Amino acid sequence: MLQPSMNSSLKLAVLGSGRGSNFTALAQAIETGLLQARVCLVASDLADAVILEEARKRSLPTYHCPPSRFKTKLEPEIEEALANQLWKSGADLIVLAGFMRVIKEPLLKAFAGRILNIHPSLLPAFKGLAAWKQALKAGVAETGCTVHWVDDSLDGGPVIRQSRVPVLPGDTAETLHQRIQVQEHRLLPEVLQHIATGKIPLPE
Ligand code: GRF
Repeated sequence: MLQPSMNSSLKLAVLGSGRGSNFTALAQAIETGLLQARVCLVASDLADAVILEEARKRSLPTYHCPPSRFKTKLEPEIEEALANQLWKSGADLIVLAGFMRVIKEPLLKAFAGRILNIHPSLLPAFKGLAAWKQALKAGVAETGCTVHWVDDSLDGGPVIRQSRVPVLPGDTAETLHQRIQVQEHRLLPEVLQHIATGKIPLPE
């Protein structure tokens, strides 16, 4: 497969498994002109994911991966089919916004250096699931969120930008996650706009 080419109108494909609040923030940033990009596909591994509903409300193309035997990854042929859909959509960049499957070779190879992820901690701290709960349990004074390039390691690719969030006395998992998400909704569109304008370079 050839690499997709970056052009003046950055085309984004967004992958998520949940309520899609980061996708919504990104779509709103496009609608208000803060982000010069367009969404060419929203894909999910879950047919009833709210993120797909949010995309349909905006008349954006959606794709749902067929069911897989595994919970944390897609079977190679299912991931290959997803990679083909993403390729056909013309996406320049793939944005993982709460996609609960680890990305493997078919996608990593098809979009090498063109996949980014948002994670709710200051990586490399608290990789993996429910990072805000891990932060609370560890008793740290601050946590935050990270946008990073995706490689074949779990939450381990090069960091692009981070935003810090204090852990406050009396914080619960919910209050802390909510405050982290406020920062995520600001950080992700900002990073994408910087990529769109060349201020943040693509990885080598
Ligand atoms: C976010 O907290 C993101 O950092 C993590 O998954 C969550 C997705 O939330 N990877 P939403 O579906 O965008 O609301």
